[in-house]
Amino acid sequence: MSKSLLNIVILAAGKGTRMHSNKPKVLHHLAGEPLLAHVLKSAAALNPEKIVVVYGYGGEAVPQAFADKRITWVKQTEQLGTGHAVQQAVPYLDDDATTLILLGDVPLISAAHCESLVAQAHSQLALLTFIKPDPTGYGRIVRDDQGNPASIVEHKDATDAQRAIQEVNSGIMAVSNQYLKPWLSQLNNENAQGEYYLTDIVAMAANDHVTIAAEICDDEWQVAGINSKQDLASVERVYQIRYAQKLMATGVTLADPARIDIRGELNTGQDVEIDVGCVFEGNVTIADGVKIGAYCVIKDASIGAGTVISPYTHIDQAKVANDCRIGPYARLRPGTQLSASTHIGNFVEIKNSQIDVGSKVNHLSYVGDSTVGKSVNIGAGVITCNYDGVNKSRTVIGDHAFIGSDSQLIAPVTIGAGATIGAGSTVSKDAPADQLTVARARQVTINNWKRPEKTKK
Ligand code: UD1
Ligand code: CA
Repeated sequence: MSKSLLNIVILAAGKGTRMHSNKPKVLHHLAGEPLLAHVLKSAAALNPEKIVVVYGYGGEAVPQAFADKRITWVKQTEQLGTGHAVQQAVPYLDDDATTLILLGDVPLISAAHCESLVAQAHSQLALLTFIKPDPTGYGRIVRDDQGNPASIVEHKDATDAQRAIQEVNSGIMAVSNQYLKPWLSQLNNENAQGEYYLTDIVAMAANDHVTIAAEICDDEWQVAGINSKQDLASVERVYQIRYAQKLMATGVTLADPARIDIRGELNTGQDVEIDVGCVFEGNVTIADGVKIGAYCVIKDASIGAGTVISPYTHIDQAKVANDCRIGPYARLRPGTQLSASTHIGNFVEIKNSQIDVGSKVNHLSYVGDSTVGKSVNIGAGVITCNYDGVNKSRTVIGDHAFIGSDSQLIAPVTIGAGATIGAGSTVSKDAPADQLTVARARQVTINNWKRPEKTKK
């Protein structure tokens, strides 16, 4: 059997009143990304012919948040119901395709579930349902005497007997467009909410003797809709614990799977250990044998094999090679590249700098816009003065140089290979290789100097 074309419509026009926010609901973040981004990811995995997103509340803010050129954006100016929302997408739907309808506020739906629904919808209607012990608020799946779905009744329109039904509509369905288009054109808004309900197409299908498949989803989180900040927080925890389980399944050691947050992609090698409270953002790659201490925040970075990162370290857009020692309390800012076996210690900030093999910056330093050679030792409190208020300039430090504690290197400046800078120097001119350069006032002792004394009243 040839696979028919697939169209996907994502409903995302609602305000989300219960979020109590000016921001459209689908732009609220789950695991660091808008809700809609999660739905789009599952949608894209199905390789559809088209993805149509129906937006409305919040106006252009929703399309502007996404760069993907493959999305067709359709505006629903007034939110007159889910059926009305899908009607807006009709002009973009292919006559011979199957349409999968997803909700922008149901973010954990898996591509696998969507796929099986689509497979069942070939020239018919397939619903994704689930069993909810407290079904309040959801559309109920009403079945006929043979047990086949006959209609969906919304909570507000349901009789007491119907309200007792625990099988509910996830809102996700797949239907062949040859039916969808005529059914949509027959919708009316004669119901408790005065809305055009998409769910009314189920009774139309039954009436037209079109087979209705109902797949019961056994994972309630995949179909959980987000209506409030409480829902958002619950789904966030589920997302995170599932990600943590996935990491442990590949061999990562987590001190506590309930205390890690991944807001993006975390790629890990073998024998990686992560202590509690760490946050990973964007794209992070961690090679074999890396140990990460408690409460580190690591974003868009790669960490080489065997490197140890101590607690409270922040890393943002940096590349760290193998066997480094970083932290505690270190900060690596964008453009930092550390070669193998470098040591970056407490209260050290590195920005837009390359630090070559075996060099050490262990205490209380700022190194910015610098090129540091191999086996360099940068003493406590050394500052590269890279900014004159207008321009940023570079500091170059040759291999095996030794920079004495509390020195300032005023860029642009070059410290030659093997040079030694005396502690407390303010270096504003290049320092030659292999020699001691001292740039500070000479020590003097003042004879007969006395401290001021307190006078009695
Ligand atoms: C809908 C279903 C209900 C189902 C529930 C599952 C209908 C009539 N009801 O109810 O059977 O159990 O979802 O969560 O379909 N939207 C628009 N435009 C509109 C209205 C809604 O784009 O005019 C979007 C919303 O942004 C949201 C989705 O459609 O993403 C669902 O809308 P919502 O108002 O939350 O529907 P429910 O009342 O929850
Ligand atoms: Ca809803």
